[in-house]
Amino acid sequence: MKFFVDTADVDAIRELNDLGMVDGVTTNPSLILKSGRDIKEVTKEICDMVEGPVSAECVALDYDGMISEGRTLAKIADNIAIKLPLTWAGLKACKTLTGEGHMVNVTLCFSANQALLAAKAGATFISPFLGRLDDLSLDGMDLIQDIRTIYDNYGFETQILAASIRNVNHVKDAALIGADVITAPPAVIKSLANHVLTDKGLDAFMADWKKTGQTIA
Ligand code: G3P
Repeated sequence: MKFFVDTADVDAIRELNDLGMVDGVTTNPSLILKSGRDIKEVTKEICDMVEGPVSAECVALDYDGMISEGRTLAKIADNIAIKLPLTWAGLKACKTLTGEGHMVNVTLCFSANQALLAAKAGATFISPFLGRLDDLSLDGMDLIQDIRTIYDNYGFETQILAASIRNVNHVKDAALIGADVITAPPAVIKSLANHVLTDKGLDAFMADWKKTGQTIA
């Protein structure tokens, strides 16, 4: 399973990237706002740091605007994945831009039928938003399972990029189902290392070690 980091915070990406934990990055207009940076400038900096795909989102809502913005974003670096919304115009732009050889991440997917359309439009990635379905008391993981089944039934190569990941269980469950990629905020990725029994065990070992009076030198 590939780990993408869902942020435009360059320092946070660098910390995880130095550990070899970053297979790609996803951004969106809200994350660009949060970064306080210029979209082209910060996206270029991320692309220079990370080898894998870096999703940069178009904000036009019409086909012509998406094509124009997509081509502009793609010029930032070779590893740009153009992010387009799951609308009819977005699917049309997906077909055109993937036909030109660009990677496309179709975002804001909330149903298996939407994911089916994105695969047929040639999307490189489909981004189902787990957390936002859970917010409505729906089971986002059911959607990941449905998309996995449909893509496998027909051999679609579009990668399932589980997004809107909010906690460690989302990561584990998406991995068990076989999502190709998860994108999660840096804090969620770092929290995968946490376990209360690890902390408790370490405390006990440290207490006993102190009693030995030894040092390792
Ligand atoms: O990249 C988009 C997605 O991951 C957003 O997550 O937490 O804002 O629903 P969230």
